[in-house]
Amino acid sequence: MYGLVETARICRQVALNAMWGLAGNAMTGWRTRRDQRDYVANAHRQFEYCQGVLESYLSFAGITDWQSYLPGRRILEIGPGHSLFTGLWSLAMGAAQYVAVERFHWDNRPEFRRQIVQYLLDSLQPAQRARIDGVWQTYVEDPLKSKDGPLQYVVMPFEDFPGTGGPFDVIWSRVVLQSVLDLDAVFGKIAQCLCPDGLSIHKTDLGHEGHSHSGHPLSFLSYSPRLWRAMYSHRDSLNRLRKSDYFAAAQRAGMEMARVEVTRELDPSIVEAIRPRLLPAFRTKDTADLACQGLLLAMRHKSARMSPK
Ligand SMILES: C[S@@+](CC[C@H](N)C(=O)[O-])C[C@H]1O[C@@H](n2cnc3c(N)ncnc32)[C@H](O)[C@@H]1O
Repeated sequence: MYGLVETARICRQVALNAMWGLAGNAMTGWRTRRDQRDYVANAHRQFEYCQGVLESYLSFAGITDWQSYLPGRRILEIGPGHSLFTGLWSLAMGAAQYVAVERFHWDNRPEFRRQIVQYLLDSLQPAQRARIDGVWQTYVEDPLKSKDGPLQYVVMPFEDFPGTGGPFDVIWSRVVLQSVLDLDAVFGKIAQCLCPDGLSIHKTDLGHEGHSHSGHPLSFLSYSPRLWRAMYSHRDSLNRLRKSDYFAAAQRAGMEMARVEVTRELDPSIVEAIRPRLLPAFRTKDTADLACQGLLLAMRHKSARMSPK
């Protein structure tokens, strides 16, 4: 069984989860308010991150001249989180459409939105600014009003998204896939919404950083599904899927990997040290699969053999 320290940590998580379950919306409201203070203070960091997502994701997928690629494209982002900045930026660069599908509306403050939009406007040429005129004002006023037109904000789980505004040339997400409960449904929806020669690019985190329950980074793969639910059912957490599960789900959805990068990896000796303790479903996975702690994926339809134009 677990040692004393690990047992204490597990009990703490179970207690926290129970509190979240009981307090529900009140806790969510408290967390959102606390996060807002941090986000307003860090608007510039958000701006740089969003800019980086666009550039690094597209070049990872083989589109180095992304400024020539974007004009006229339709983009969908799954789970953008606190800001729709990647969307405003893409539209300013000439994209025809940006649809954000977010499960939870982060009710951020107008001053945060105004600040982040100001960074964006200051960095644009007049012609680029003109492309998002009218769009950014609606976003600053109330993101939920961004329903029609080039920027669309849809609040629902991506699995339920009806595909409005598509088909899409690019579908991307950042640190979202690790928390979806039904990866088959998500990949199936991506396949349905993606153009025949479209690209789907995702960064996902397979580790459990910040929630470590013992000294071992894979100890969370030893907890039974019941214990895992007791610890996290009321909070955002990992689905615990491994690299091989992502590949298999892509295959089932009729997609294939155009490019894969393991962004974080454990030493094989660390994996083997815990293997006997892992749940059978994880114990039988190969070392490289268990060692993978983060992935960057670019997927396309199996039928799309040509590189993107
Ligand atoms: C860790 S945050 C990442 C936010 C942002 N992409 C970033 O990198 O800062 C994960 C986001 O994905 C959203 N999300 C998780 N599952 C989702 C789903 N099935 N459909 C749509 N959004 C989802 C969450 O609500 C959350 O805003």
